[in-house]
Amino acid sequence: MAQKPKRVAGSGNKERSSPPSVTPQKSLLACITVLIAAITIGWLIRNDSLSLRRNGGGGPSSYAASVAPRLVFPRDMSYRAIAESRRPLILTKTLIDKWKARRTFTTTFLAKRLEQVSVYHQPKQRHFITFHDQKPLEPLLLDESWDDFNVKINISISQLLQWDDTNNNILTTKEGPWHYYSQDVNQIRSVFPDIIHYMQPINDLILSEDNVQVNLWIGRAGIITHTHYDATYNFFVQLQGRKRFTLFPPNQTLYLYPCLHPHYGHSQVDILAPNLDQFPLFEGSEAVVAEVGPGDMLVVPPYWFHHVETLEESVSINVWSDAPEYALMNKIYAQPIPFEEEWSWSELVIATNIYTTMIIKSVGISDTKQFVSNLVRQRYLPLVKRSNIAFNTNHYEELNEIFRRTDWSSKGQQYKPLFQKESHRISLLLGELPSKSTIKICVGNYLEHLIHRTVGLEHVCPFLAVASGLSPSDFTPLTLEF
Ligand SMILES: *[C@@H]1O[C@H](CO)[C@@H](O)[C@H](O)[C@H]1NC(C)=O
Ligand SMILES: *[C@@H]1O[C@H](CO)[C@@H](O)[C@H](O)[C@H]1NC(C)=O
Repeated sequence: MAQKPKRVAGSGNKERSSPPSVTPQKSLLACITVLIAAITIGWLIRNDSLSLRRNGGGGPSSYAASVAPRLVFPRDMSYRAIAESRRPLILTKTLIDKWKARRTFTTTFLAKRLEQVSVYHQPKQRHFITFHDQKPLEPLLLDESWDDFNVKINISISQLLQWDDTNNNILTTKEGPWHYYSQDVNQIRSVFPDIIHYMQPINDLILSEDNVQVNLWIGRAGIITHTHYDATYNFFVQLQGRKRFTLFPPNQTLYLYPCLHPHYGHSQVDILAPNLDQFPLFEGSEAVVAEVGPGDMLVVPPYWFHHVETLEESVSINVWSDAPEYALMNKIYAQPIPFEEEWSWSELVIATNIYTTMIIKSVGISDTKQFVSNLVRQRYLPLVKRSNIAFNTNHYEELNEIFRRTDWSSKGQQYKPLFQKESHRISLLLGELPSKSTIKICVGNYLEHLIHRTVGLEHVCPFLAVASGLSPSDFTPLTLEF
C-alpha cells in the first residue's frame, strides 16, 4: 500500500500558466457586465439581509467575521456575471440540482467505484499546505519539517475515512495519520469512465478557454486546508457533509509567503491560533465565513484568501477556471528586462533599484520605500525570525555599501530613459488587473522574480531590506524559550 513517499504540489492551491489573452473590446464589455452584476448582487444581498457580524473563528477573536450571503440562484443572471462580481456567495437551487452526482456521490458510493485513491498523507498534523516543488527558495530552507507535507500514497476510501475507527465522523484532534483526497476528475476516468456524466450540465461553470479543472474532494472531519489564494474563479459544490470556509478579501494583510518560496500563495498566519507578535497587522482583519452543506455552491473569488475546515465526512466537486490575472501576469513575466549583459553586478543592483522603483510608482503607489518595506516585513522577516530561511549579513553589507556610495540622482538620469518603455508597458498591463489589492500582490510577486533574476536569489531578501532602509538587527531570529 504505502509506496516510497514522493513530495508533490497539491491539496488545494492552483498555479498554472499561459492562457489566452483578452482583447480591449472584450475587457470593456467585461467591465460593464461586472458592474451590472455587482449592482444586482449588491441589491439581492441587501434584500436578503442575511449578512450579520460576529466574532471570528471560535478561537482568539483577532479578526472580525461576517456570514457569507446565501442566495437562491438569480435566474436572470449568469454564473459568469456572479463570479466576475468577485464576492463570496453561497448559491442554492443552482444547476447542480440536475447533477446525478448531487443524488449519488456519497462516500459509500464512491468507495465502491474507486477502489484505490491517491491521497495526500500527513503522519502528524491535520493541517494541509501545498509545497510547490522546485521553487527557487527551496534549497535555502533551513527548516526540515517540509518533508511532512504532501506525501502521496495509494489507499482505499475506507482507509482514507478511517471507517474502522470508532471515532469516525467526530471532529477529533487525535494523532494522525491524516489523509486528504483531491483529484482532477479527468484523471479518475480510467477507473470511473463516466464520471463526467454525473456532473452535467457544467458548461455554465466553465469561464475560461484553457486550464479549466474539475476536481473531486473527499476527506474526513477535522482536516484543514491552509489559508491561501488561487488566481482562479472557483465554483465549489458541496455534496455530502459540511465544510467551513473562512475567506479574507485580497486587501487584508495575511503575510504571504514569498512568491519564490515553496508555500507560494499561502499565508504564514495560522488563523486558528495567530501569533500577533509576529503578525501584528493580521489583527482586526475582516473575514467572511461560509459554512456549506449538501446542495450548496460556494463562489470563491480569485485572490480571496481562504481557509477550509472539514466539519463532517465530506464529498465536494469544484470547477476552477482562469481569472484574467493569469494571462496578464504571464504577459508581464514575458516582458524583457531592459538591462545589458555586460553590466557589472553592482550596476545591476543600482539598475534594479531604479527600475523596481519606476514600476511601483507607475501603478500609482507613491511611497515606494514603504511598499518595499511592507513586502520584506510581511513576506521575509517572519520567516527569518522563525529560522525558516537565513538572513545573510554579508550580502546585506555588500548591497548596503553599493547603495551608500551611489549617486542616485546621476544614476537616475542615466538609467530612467533606458527603462521608460518597458516600465510603461508593464504598468499598462498591471493597470488591467481588476483591483488595487490584486495589483499590490502581483507587483510584489513580480518584484521578487525580477530581483531574483537580476541580482540573484540569495540577495533578494537583503536587497529588499537595504532598499527599504531596514538594518540587519531587524532580522535577528527569535530565540526559542524553554
Ligand atoms: C498510485 O496508483 C497509480 C495507479 O495505479 C500509480 O500510477 C501511482 O504511481 C501510484 N502512486 C503512488 C504514490 O503510489
Ligand atoms: C476590503 O475589501 C472588502 C471586500 O471587497 C471591502 O468590503 C472592504 O471595504 C475593503 N477594505 C478596505 C480597508 O479597503
